[in-house]
Amino acid sequence: MTRDTQLNSEKWWQTGVIYQIYPLTFADANGDGVGDLQGIIKKLDYLNDGNPNSETSLGIDAIWLSPINRSPMVDNGYDVSDYYDISDTFGTLEDFEMLLAESHQRGIRVILDLVINHTSNRHSWFLESSSSRDNPKSDWYHWQDPEPDGGVPNNWLSYFGGTGWTFNEARKQYYYHTFNKNQPDLNWGNPEVKEAIFQMIRFWLDKGVDGFRLDASSVYSKDKYYRYNPVKFDANDNNKYNNLHHLYDKNLPENHHIIREIRKIIDRYQDRVLIGETFIDSTIYESVIFYGINNDELHLPFTFEFPFSPWYPGYLQQEIAKKELVTPSGAWASYFLDNHDIPRHLSRWVECSLCTNQLGIAQAAAAILLTVRGTPILYYGQELGMVDNQDIPPEKIQDKIVVRSETEDSPESRDGARTPMQWNDSVNAGFSFGKDIEPWLPVHKNYPEVNVAKELKDRDSIFNFYRQLIKVRKNSEALRLGSWKTLIHYPYEHLAYVRETTDEKVLIIINFSYEKDFEIDEYIARENWQVLVSNVLEAGKIIDLPSTLQPFEVSVLRKE
Ligand code: NOJ
Repeated sequence: MTRDTQLNSEKWWQTGVIYQIYPLTFADANGDGVGDLQGIIKKLDYLNDGNPNSETSLGIDAIWLSPINRSPMVDNGYDVSDYYDISDTFGTLEDFEMLLAESHQRGIRVILDLVINHTSNRHSWFLESSSSRDNPKSDWYHWQDPEPDGGVPNNWLSYFGGTGWTFNEARKQYYYHTFNKNQPDLNWGNPEVKEAIFQMIRFWLDKGVDGFRLDASSVYSKDKYYRYNPVKFDANDNNKYNNLHHLYDKNLPENHHIIREIRKIIDRYQDRVLIGETFIDSTIYESVIFYGINNDELHLPFTFEFPFSPWYPGYLQQEIAKKELVTPSGAWASYFLDNHDIPRHLSRWVECSLCTNQLGIAQAAAAILLTVRGTPILYYGQELGMVDNQDIPPEKIQDKIVVRSETEDSPESRDGARTPMQWNDSVNAGFSFGKDIEPWLPVHKNYPEVNVAKELKDRDSIFNFYRQLIKVRKNSEALRLGSWKTLIHYPYEHLAYVRETTDEKVLIIINFSYEKDFEIDEYIARENWQVLVSNVLEAGKIIDLPSTLQPFEVSVLRKE
């Protein structure tokens, strides 16, 4: 498909904005300190009230919910014990159906997190599989005999630290887990496992969900001979998992067959989306294969270019340019700044020397995310400028899943980026009304300043900047679908790029510093431009291009 035919077949997941909700900390309706589905329902109008001209609603098009299935919550939902039910923590299946209906009524699509590389060790499948060597589900997980000396079957590691193999007494065998020992990996080589998962996928599609985010979608398949992974020559990553070449436990050809099969299921329903956490060594080049040779795998593979970039225009642009180059014809990119596994971008980026202006960074980052060619994915609270809570006392940490060892730095707790959404300046930031209840994670202490209620009233808030950008994007064919072209090949202080279709041209200028000099004439002809969104120019105004920029200026302009 060429770019032009793409224009004729806009899909909601290409042109819309996706918003990730971490249900445990988004909104608590029953006052027990933990977020729930009724809480999300109450906040849907904030996300999109269905009025395209709303001044109080963010205007996003889809929500992706981190897992809500029944789970012992060892990995906070990424350890499912019943795929067909909702965790009591969040509510009931009826609550979910209500959430779906209420979302759809407002034009919001609903995407579920599908955790199918592994189950919880308390899933009935694993309980049965681990009970003996000859039960009907004995081959549903990766079971291997110990080495003659009793040691682990091979050198495969867990991403969360330590060996990936845990011994089971009843079977006198080891089982493999890419993540924690409470998250045994399913054996996708077994057709019964596949069918059980595919059936469950159909169940949720029949209910009307609009798509899935596939968790850890590169590690489904494992080598049938369980061969040793070669150790990298320059192996010095603190997380030892990253010191192996994952030849035999990741990204195998069979893995792609599985994603293709899931895609086929999805494609039998109308207008659904398949997103995937590629979870590979994460260069954009590698993740491209997740589109599939015939664009028949993931619609939107997640790649981590912005999360791994420093706050530097040259670097960010290089990542965008790479993605422009490698995204296959007919495929579509996606971008994000934050998610529940990494520090929020304002916490990652404020430490750089030029980054003293936090609002400026937040506005610039918002503008980049919402004006590049690809689907933007927001993480709850990002639109408020929320930062990580770095003061969580050790006894209140909820992310206890990583294995700590003296010899190895396991990944840090991810709780800092998972603290309660800051709704207002009342108790618990309005996240939970329970007076004597402690929220699941402590609220960030900046909540009296950084919260929805306050930012709604402030025309210059980062919330309002996001809201305007989303609206402008929605109303601009060039921003939704147009080509991307940089005007500065070696950006140092600024980014300047153009998004363009046959009928519309939009110019984005971002100043990363206090520097005012900016010879725009070098880059683009002087013409009349209409201000679409800007943190210094008046929206709607027709201007000639400025020859200097304001410090940290962010302007999105449409050619008249
Ligand atoms: C990736 C998820 O994003 C992360 O939160 C989780 O711990 C692992 N997969 C395991 O499911």
